[in-house]
Amino acid sequence: MAAKPDSMPPGTGMKRGLTAYGDAGFSLFLRKAFIKAMGYSDDALDRPIIGITDTFSGYNACHRNVPDIIEGVKRGVLMAGGLPVQFPVVSLHESFAHPTSMYLRNLMAMDTEEMVRAQPMDAVVLIGGCDKTVPALLMGAASANVPAVLTVTGPMITGDHKGERLGACTDCRRFWGRYRGGEIDDREIGEIEEKLCPTAGTCMVMGTASTMACCAEAMGMMLPGGAAIPAVMADRIRHAEATGARAVALAAEGLTPDRVMTPAALENALTMLLAIGGSTNALIHLTAIAARLGYEVDLERFDEMGRRTPVLVDLKPTGKGYMEDLYRAGGATTILRQLKPMLALDALTVTGRTLGENLDAAAPDWDQTVVRPFGDPVYAGGAMAILRGNLAPGGAVVKQCAASQSLLQHEGRAVVFSSLADLAERIDDPDLDVAAEDILVLQNAGLRGVPGMPESGYLPIPKKLALKGVRDMVRISDARMSGTAFGTVVLHVSPESAIGGPLALVRTGDRIRLDTAGRRLDLLVSDEELAARRAAWQPPPPRPEDQRGYRRLYVEQVEQAEHGGDFAFMRPPVRGRIPRT
Ligand code: FES
Repeated sequence: MAAKPDSMPPGTGMKRGLTAYGDAGFSLFLRKAFIKAMGYSDDALDRPIIGITDTFSGYNACHRNVPDIIEGVKRGVLMAGGLPVQFPVVSLHESFAHPTSMYLRNLMAMDTEEMVRAQPMDAVVLIGGCDKTVPALLMGAASANVPAVLTVTGPMITGDHKGERLGACTDCRRFWGRYRGGEIDDREIGEIEEKLCPTAGTCMVMGTASTMACCAEAMGMMLPGGAAIPAVMADRIRHAEATGARAVALAAEGLTPDRVMTPAALENALTMLLAIGGSTNALIHLTAIAARLGYEVDLERFDEMGRRTPVLVDLKPTGKGYMEDLYRAGGATTILRQLKPMLALDALTVTGRTLGENLDAAAPDWDQTVVRPFGDPVYAGGAMAILRGNLAPGGAVVKQCAASQSLLQHEGRAVVFSSLADLAERIDDPDLDVAAEDILVLQNAGLRGVPGMPESGYLPIPKKLALKGVRDMVRISDARMSGTAFGTVVLHVSPESAIGGPLALVRTGDRIRLDTAGRRLDLLVSDEELAARRAAWQPPPPRPEDQRGYRRLYVEQVEQAEHGGDFAFMRPPVRGRIPRT
């Protein structure tokens, strides 16, 4: 059968990004010859091509429903006249990435960028879910700048234990704390392990995955309603179908990510982050996404934004509910409606309409208690506070809405752990010299220190104190914390200790003052003494495994938390700062 002359303009469809044989005609001929081995007709190949990132992995429980979502996206693409083509990219699950998923986020972002750019597609549907996947996909899409739309796997439904709702992973930590404190035994913790993650989907509290999904919807990169639909709902597949159909229109309109992820849209995402009492991790990820587009997040302005933005969403770990409750309350749309006076409503979204137009087109609100009005917030202060001081000249963050309020102003004696290994060795030592009013300090757990900035900032309460009922202490580190965790935990201390930040100079017995109201974090040691310690400081010994491959690239190039933890060479020159005021 003779090949039908195609109608796709040059540089589109199968003609995009031809392989470099030095003969464009031959390149297209060869490409079509090979793809016909997949059984495609000329009619199919003569359509807009919609790539679909296949992030299914046998190691990624949060992405268990990706095959169903891909089917939904494909149906939508075909209904709209496009040709769907799925392709694999790196997939990351929090509990299955050594040393951390953060260490691999940049690899997934690079993989996404290069695969979107290298392969012929007129638009791409990004399927994210677990914590690092949404930021990595958006970072990659921002750099590739091919029309893109995100959908997510959606949160899990809650489980039940002795009549109590429970879910990953706020309740994982709560029950583990009770187990460490001797309140529950081996048999019961085993039963709970079976119930914490009862369905496909992402952690069902306002952890990093839920936070990034809500922020992506506020940013306009996901069709309305997508953030909160539980993974097991039919609505989740319908959202995938609509996403696929919309991707075909995005291809025709040429609506690229740089026209959606504008400063106004990124600010909308930051406002959402604060209003949901979202994960501190999301601040790093949004900083990295913004940096890919040339915008720097100004931490002081973000802190100011926090003072104006109360936490409105009553979900764990700050409040009581779970993502399925937010879904029933109308999802992110209900939050965005409450936030309307604070949002840039003229920001363009992937619907082709502005955020304000999307909200006007959505179903009206109904009585619900999950998203509070401004006058009755879950937490009136900012969800998180940015700290500076001689211990964190580059900044640190504390999620004050998920902290013990009595500890936010606190001075105490430092009990220092020099590494994760030191922490593991000594934290449960009955002879550890520690009291409830002390401040636990963890060094060398930052982006270069481990590497990959593990979620170890939520240091366990020393067992001898946990057995006495102590449930929270001030903890300070250059590490991160899961968005699902609760506690008075100062994170992302910058510069990190492994590169000689002041955190490296803290010694057990020093006094530290946490002044959250004054936005200060100070080591109460004289300048002379600190100078002497700095002169004597030695960097951690070189690690053989840092000498080659991706790990070498990572430790040499990763930037500090306030820059998003991306590689220095991945971002264009800074052209603006957000929030703009
Ligand atoms: Fe995947 Fe929590 S581990 S979202």
